[in-house]
Amino acid sequence: RKGRTPEEVVKKYLQKVRNPPEEDCTICMEPLGGPSGYKGPGVGGVSRGESVGRLVQCGHQYHLQCLVAMYSNGNGDGSLQCPTCKTIYGVKTGNQPPGKMEYHVIPHSLPGHPDCKTIRIIYTITPGIQGPEHPNPGKPFTARGFPRHCYLPDSDKGRKVLRLLLVAWDRRLLFSVGTSSTTGESDTVIWNEVHHKTEFGSNLTGHGYPDLGYLDNVLEELRAQGITEEDSLND
Ligand code: APR
Ligand code: ZN
Repeated sequence: RKGRTPEEVVKKYLQKVRNPPEEDCTICMEPLGGPSGYKGPGVGGVSRGESVGRLVQCGHQYHLQCLVAMYSNGNGDGSLQCPTCKTIYGVKTGNQPPGKMEYHVIPHSLPGHPDCKTIRIIYTITPGIQGPEHPNPGKPFTARGFPRHCYLPDSDKGRKVLRLLLVAWDRRLLFSVGTSSTTGESDTVIWNEVHHKTEFGSNLTGHGYPDLGYLDNVLEELRAQGITEEDSLND
């Protein structure tokens, strides 16, 4: 995947569209039948015959140049996400800082899951210096509240969630560096878009148990990051 230009990456996921529909490109809001409204840096010359593309899986259509510009603004990991329906092409990765993810079973039951033990996940991330993939490269970031402890029921579904979380960790999708919405602190490690249960015996914070919808919700959040059961078997 290394060495591919943004245009080559984007084209892997596109079919050509000979006769664009009379609709606007939802990236630049200009008609698909005309030129891309995006004239940002990193957008190469695109010949006329291939100016509009259809994403192969979801079918949404955009100016090729608009998708190239969108990809060039991202982390360059070779993956592309449809801005309309969020379908992911390739393998999405994030900018989670280095650290470790550990887990073990503890012999207690979570509220709402009386018939099984509990998996405790321990995330450890230490402060460091932001890399080029972070909001302020070269600047330090803080890491508050680590090690962070999280809980899953040790049931079939809870173990499935754990397998997918391990994939998400490897793809650097569980944490990010940014501004904490809880504390307002910037340049700090924050949870990314996959919710975790950090409270064990109650649900005073909303991040605890019982919460009967939690496992299905987190599976849906993982799916939105492009992670499904097949990934945990293949990775
Ligand atoms: N436990 C689990 N998830 C949380 C918590 C929490 N205590 N607080 C917030 N979240 C969720 C939010 O619902 C949101 O979806 O994390 C997401 C990002 O929220 P931020 O406040 O930006 O994240 P962060 O600063 O990392 O978390 C705040 O979570 O685990 C604790 O020690 C941590 O007290 C800190 C809190
Ligand atoms: Zn466009």
